[in-house]
Amino acid sequence: MKKLIIPFFSFIFLLQINYIQLNASDGPKHPMQMKWSFDGMTGKFDKQSIQRGFKVYKEVCSACHSIKRVAFRNLMEIGFSEDEVKALASEYEVKDGPDEEGEMFERPARLADIIPGPYLNEKAARAANNGAYPLDLSLIIKARHDGANYVYSLLTGYSNPPSDFELGENMYYNPYFAAGGDQLAMTPPLHTEGQVAFDDGTKATVDQMSNDVVNFLQWVAEPEMQESKALGIKVLIFLVFFTILFYIAKKRIWKRIE
Ligand code: HEC
Repeated sequence: MKKLIIPFFSFIFLLQINYIQLNASDGPKHPMQMKWSFDGMTGKFDKQSIQRGFKVYKEVCSACHSIKRVAFRNLMEIGFSEDEVKALASEYEVKDGPDEEGEMFERPARLADIIPGPYLNEKAARAANNGAYPLDLSLIIKARHDGANYVYSLLTGYSNPPSDFELGENMYYNPYFAAGGDQLAMTPPLHTEGQVAFDDGTKATVDQMSNDVVNFLQWVAEPEMQESKALGIKVLIFLVFFTILFYIAKKRIWKRIE
């Protein structure tokens, strides 16, 4: 027992040093750790929240960011009716063609169309954002470490810079930004309570809107998550069941020899 005391305390000591170093480094601030309905083995999507999150995306984020992996018909998976989605699609114009004369033309979007983004291409997007690129948000939750907590922290983490901080032109202070430097070119997108009016009466605080848009982006990044988790649990139950079965079988077979 005594032999273990020194290694044990050295280990704790090293952990402490690591902890201090991590906190003292110049890297981005560690994301806030939130509770999400999709967390864990039995994680589930909260469709009400995802629907509200879509509204936040549509009314705020879509001014600068696309979600190229989502077609209108996918929105039926989060509980919108076919008629609702058709009506929504018809508000958008998409390019189609060529027609009989070989010309491209615009027509209202249909269920199978990808939800159109705000810019034709990356150059146009950069030109409109002082050179910064508002990336496609389809996979952002998977592309960043601890993605859901990260995007939530980024959205709610804007504040005034410390007095000795050199803020670039057209830049905003945010210690959570993954690229480091504590500043980014995105204006705080969610800043005022009631910026989006939720159809289900939920109070649209900045916190709530951020939370809902993260739920939406999580679904966009991994729409099959809930099914794979449910399947995983079924497989586990199956394995436990068979382990017990084989254990009993083994006992019975070897009994004759004992
Ligand atoms: C006015 C345009 C604009 C709006 C509106 C906007 N963004 Fe951005 N966003 C940007 C730009 C520009 C960047 C790139 C910032 C940079 O690289 O400095 C960015 C970057 C991001 C990033 C990437 C951070 C990273 O790690 O690279 C995320 C996540 C993000 N935005 C989410 C959102 C969400 C969610 C909304 C809606 C609530 C939103 N944005 C609304 C312009 C916008």
